[in-house]
Amino acid sequence: MARHKGKVALCAGSATGMGAMTARRLASEGAKVVVADINEAGAQALIESIRADGGEAMALGFDITEEESVRETVARVVGAYGALNLMHVNATDRERNLEDKDVVTTDLAVFDRMHKVSLRGHLLCSRVAIPEMLKAGGGAIVYTSSGASKGSAPMRVSYYIAKAGLNGLMRHVADRWGKEGIRANCVCPGVILTDAILINTSEDERAAMLKSTPSTRHGSEEDVASLVSFLLSDEEAGWINGQAVNLNGGGLMAV
Ligand SMILES: NC(=O)c1ccc[n+]([C@@H]2O[C@H](COP(=O)([O-])OP(=O)(O)OC[C@H]3O[C@@H](n4cnc5c(N)ncnc54)[C@H](O)[C@@H]3O)[C@@H](O)[C@H]2O)c1
Repeated sequence: MARHKGKVALCAGSATGMGAMTARRLASEGAKVVVADINEAGAQALIESIRADGGEAMALGFDITEEESVRETVARVVGAYGALNLMHVNATDRERNLEDKDVVTTDLAVFDRMHKVSLRGHLLCSRVAIPEMLKAGGGAIVYTSSGASKGSAPMRVSYYIAKAGLNGLMRHVADRWGKEGIRANCVCPGVILTDAILINTSEDERAAMLKSTPSTRHGSEEDVASLVSFLLSDEEAGWINGQAVNLNGGGLMAV
């Protein structure tokens, strides 16, 4: 399918997991894809595999927390491919995940890091990409949020707040630039069996999570790639703007 033929897509924080699967999907659907990640070796391995499958792709090392790095990345995308039309912002830093506890006990450094990568970093990408999209006549952005953005839990306060903030950023972008041809949406996955989840949970825990959803299986990276690709397509999703779309097998309904 050539859904994204002629488009240039920046996949920010996409060397592994659902971001990597989405980069593969966009390339297989005709986009020229730039995979930018702090894990430069992972991004390079991914684009070599995309190229081997016949796609057009480039890897860049970048740190989403550094404005200069984000600026340089977007400049290199436009320098190499002439424009920027589509963006999937997906980065999160899992390093201190287990220390993200409640509002009383969480180390503020854990909270700050979460916000620097998963919220402020997404804001930096938007800030730099939007002017380039406007030069190209418009564009589409999808941020990876989470079911956490709409719920609550006794732990992971930093993550829940960052993802709720991300939905707010997305709505701002949709509202501010909709009339100028830029759409922005979030995907809000439930449990997706990426390596990060497989490493951090036991089989019993995953079985318990599955029991609590009305579906027959967990989510996959392909589920996310399909939804992001659809939302980035003006032909198919041109009337979807400013939405935080659930993708959770029914685990969370009607929020
Ligand atoms: N796996 C799930 O069940 C699940 C559920 C809901 C939401 N999410 C969200 O989906 C997204 C992807 O998750 P995943 O499970 O595929 O994890 P992942 O760890 O494989 O992906 C995160 C990516 O962000 C990159 N990254 C981290 N810090 C960075 C930085 N400073 N600059 C640039 N890149 C950086 C990592 O290198 C990695 O490639 C995240 O935003 C996560 O919060 C995941």
